[in-house]
Amino acid sequence: ESTLAAAAAQSGRYFGTAIASGKLGDGNYTNIANREFNMITAENEMKIDATEPNQGQFNFTNADRIYNWATQNGKQVRGHTLAWHSQQPGWMQSLSGSALRQAMINHINGVMAHYKGKIPYWDVVNEAYDDNNGGRRDSNLQRTGNDWIEVAFRTARAADPSAKLCYNDYNIDNWTWAKTQGVYNMVRDFKSRGVPIDCVGLQSHFNGQSPYNSNYRTTISQFAALGVDVAITELDIQGGSAQTYANVVNDCLAVPRCIGITVWGVRDSDSWLGANTSPLLFDSNGNKKAAYNSVLNAL
Ligand code: XIL
Repeated sequence: ESTLAAAAAQSGRYFGTAIASGKLGDGNYTNIANREFNMITAENEMKIDATEPNQGQFNFTNADRIYNWATQNGKQVRGHTLAWHSQQPGWMQSLSGSALRQAMINHINGVMAHYKGKIPYWDVVNEAYDDNNGGRRDSNLQRTGNDWIEVAFRTARAADPSAKLCYNDYNIDNWTWAKTQGVYNMVRDFKSRGVPIDCVGLQSHFNGQSPYNSNYRTTISQFAALGVDVAITELDIQGGSAQTYANVVNDCLAVPRCIGITVWGVRDSDSWLGANTSPLLFDSNGNKKAAYNSVLNAL
């Protein structure tokens, strides 16, 4: 096959990218994105600060720019993200307790109503676990009570029963890490108690502090064995190793419930990490890199 999307489709998977609404006027960017990818995540435009800048007043202008570009070009959209400690609007940052809990519920309902039936996967909760100890991350949401995550998932299920509901996080790629085990235990608990969760997103931002490890395949298969889909949701690899990219693809392909891979940007110049670490599949001029060919061959 000659594109990432077509190659991934041979095994029933998708290949996606993050898209920034401000770049949809860049022809080089949209040409590559339209040609190579068939699953789109809004890099920032569906986050809480973007979609509910003032409490109770929703704004989907930029989110819809991305949604419409994607669907008009035959692509699906992953929703990202509904409940998160980061990129909260100021009004939400200043809330706590039951007012914050209700605001979280209202936000999930408002955004999911706008896209009801249109978004196959939602990152309902993002990055709720602590980086070191396997427990919850301290945040204003966590301080509303330990049940905030399951409340978010139950709210999301009711708001759009057709959407698959995902928990998404970084540094849950290495099976031996406490954070991975913390999230694994949460998903196992949710499945055992009937809390609606359908998928786990492994962000998979690999760098010197959190490098790719060959136990990644174990992580993917262990989550899948709990009865959830696994998606690689924000892949980038600092240094851009072609071999590491191939390893990631091969690990996903080895697990039937690993449903697709999304890279976190199109060209190196589009990366949130900066172009200098060369983390993506296209260089800053839009040329295919060695990592691109490696991924295409592995798919
Ligand atoms: C990043 C975006 O790429 C940046 O443009 C923004 O300034 C900060 O957020 N985990 C996530 C993503 O879930 O939403 C983050 O995206 C990267 C880390």
